[in-house]
Amino acid sequence: MEWRTVLENLEAQLARLQAAGINYLNIEPDPELARMLNDAAHEAGAVTPDEPAAGHGAAFAQSTEVSAGVATQDAIDAPVTPGTQPRSEPQSKAAAAGQIHPSEFKTLDSLQEYFRDCRNCGLCAGRSRVVFGEGHAHPIILFVGEGPGQEEDRQGLPFVGRAGTLLTQGIRALGLAREDIYIANIVKCRPPGNRNPQPEEMAACLPILQRQIELLDPKVIVTLGNVPLKTFNPRARGITQARGHPFGYREWQILPTFHPAYLLRNPNGLDPWWSDLKQALVLANTAATRGAE
Ligand code: URA
Repeated sequence: MEWRTVLENLEAQLARLQAAGINYLNIEPDPELARMLNDAAHEAGAVTPDEPAAGHGAAFAQSTEVSAGVATQDAIDAPVTPGTQPRSEPQSKAAAAGQIHPSEFKTLDSLQEYFRDCRNCGLCAGRSRVVFGEGHAHPIILFVGEGPGQEEDRQGLPFVGRAGTLLTQGIRALGLAREDIYIANIVKCRPPGNRNPQPEEMAACLPILQRQIELLDPKVIVTLGNVPLKTFNPRARGITQARGHPFGYREWQILPTFHPAYLLRNPNGLDPWWSDLKQALVLANTAATRGAE
């Protein structure tokens, strides 16, 4: 069957499921579909043939959130797959400057070292330190926040301010330590005045996060707040609706939940947050068991 027909059928099927109120599916990746979609992406010029095979199509086939429309799935894939990203200004500059792409680094340490003095976007002007991330080299949970705040910028470590204290308490309540998990952010440098990161700043930084995810290979990814949720799934409903509903990103499951800074202002969210953290542990254990079989 021609790939365009496969896509149309798939879209129609997803729309039917969505109309029936089914929003999440657990689908096994279909290698044949992934191959066809990868070919289609190459054909459309979204991925250059010399870029890694785990491109557009593979991620499409492995995304498990039910959502009608190719654009949605494009969007899920786009921000974190270097080959499918629109060439943003900072990335073009980086490429023009002959920089090594994050996907080429074989270890987390070498990736961190290379981007220690990153100048790929304007955030470098106001930061004190790049906050690369911290934790276990193969964590059970990878938490992804938005971007460093003032204290993180000062120490060069993620989630060490007030929101970090709450996150650490949640981790401990699960019976884990910060050393068992990994914490990273969408952008590695503090946005001035703690504003939300801009699209071009996120686009410049996301290939680093994507490589972190590949190298860390966590059992589950927990996104904190709206910014990382929308980064992985731009068509997701707001965090209040989306929290607690896992979706697939390539070979990983992502569980969105509230950002701890939000919980400091809205303690009503603590109960659902705690239930999400417990769910994350269950998902991680399931993935670990599956991996051990
Ligand atoms: N908020 C974030 O999103 N990340 C941090 O590292 C700290 C606070």
